[in-house]
Amino acid sequence: MPVERFAKNELIPSLQARMGGGTRARMGPMEGMINLGAGDPDFNQPEFINKAVYEAMKEGYTHYSFGGDPEFKQAIASYYKKYGVDVDPNTQIVIESGGSQAIFRSFGAILNPGEEILIMDPAYGGYRGPAAYFGATMTRAKLTKGKDGLFRPDMDNIRAAITDKTKAMLICNPDNPCGTVYTEKELKGLAEVAVEKDIVLIADEIYTEFTWGDSVHRPIINLPGMEERTMVLMSFSKTFAWTGCRAGYIIAGPELMRVVNAVPTGICSMPVAFQRAGIKALNEGWDFVDEMKAEYKKRIDFMAPRLSEIEGITCPYPEGAFYLFPDISELGVPSAKFSQDLFVKEKVRCASGSGYGENGEGHIRFALVRPVEDLAEACDRIEKFVKSLPPKAPSAYP
Ligand SMILES: Cc1ncc(COP(=O)(O)O)c(C=O)c1O
Repeated sequence: MPVERFAKNELIPSLQARMGGGTRARMGPMEGMINLGAGDPDFNQPEFINKAVYEAMKEGYTHYSFGGDPEFKQAIASYYKKYGVDVDPNTQIVIESGGSQAIFRSFGAILNPGEEILIMDPAYGGYRGPAAYFGATMTRAKLTKGKDGLFRPDMDNIRAAITDKTKAMLICNPDNPCGTVYTEKELKGLAEVAVEKDIVLIADEIYTEFTWGDSVHRPIINLPGMEERTMVLMSFSKTFAWTGCRAGYIIAGPELMRVVNAVPTGICSMPVAFQRAGIKALNEGWDFVDEMKAEYKKRIDFMAPRLSEIEGITCPYPEGAFYLFPDISELGVPSAKFSQDLFVKEKVRCASGSGYGENGEGHIRFALVRPVEDLAEACDRIEKFVKSLPPKAPSAYP
């Protein structure tokens, strides 16, 4: 008998298909590989944070923490105030064990089977599984490219994609994979649509700290009519290179937070000692963040123009996050084939644009999680690989 007989409900048998595949093989280290695939920072969590965890345990922070450590929540509220938003730590913050759990809980709080959640195209792939799990349909609004080659929200596409089943719209700002940071005008436009259509706006802001040049991160939750309908998803994973230790949170208006809190996830799942270390990170961790940012900036400054030097590749300069999402459509190679062959032939790992949605086809994503020397070597290999491709002919790649 298939294991589906143990499944929660009738949604599960077709789940694998709708979640976009089975278990993804995890690659261990490989001699000579330059892994620019996953967005796992190559910086280690700083020692003062590691020590803070141990110190907290020695001080006895080893017990249940039902609603999350109040001082940690206060530190989060003080941090978010930097972006002009007043948050009541008691009623507007819930602690999560990372951004992925924040996605899961926010979706679980509002999505009923048959309802729709609208996401952009291209978009980060981690929304697909939770939407499918809750029986919701993920719909897409195509982003369109601006003059600078960056994908941007398109209000006509967004309006056209909203139906009477749409419960929520999700934006990622700053955006992974596109590198776009939403402007004030774009955010106001999105807020107007959310209010007019009376839908929830989920704002994945986990790359808040990573903006480049003149771009600044602006939250959407403090625009008119938005506090009652916005869930902000945040994570320490990228901000403090804290991917393995799991820390994140959701911010929402007090009423909506009652809906979020109705998801029975039990006792706060971020270990108490890490919550104490989180206070230290939010109070004293900014030099470390600045160092990482300076390094990411160096990597972007090197690799974006270098990729554009390769014939057939155009790489826009991102406004935010630490990914490059170059256009490879001139090469006439499907992005999945490009990334697979690049890996097999040159041991450079990247992500295929089609994995981010139909509109991501013709692009590949590089996570800049290696030092410049490695990126230089990767670019040389990419150039060699591109030169080895047959001349553009659609029939060459069925
Ligand atoms: C846009 C976006 N949201 C959420 C996540 C998940 O965050 P976490 O690693 O904290 O689970 C990621 C991770 O890469 C991401 O890029």
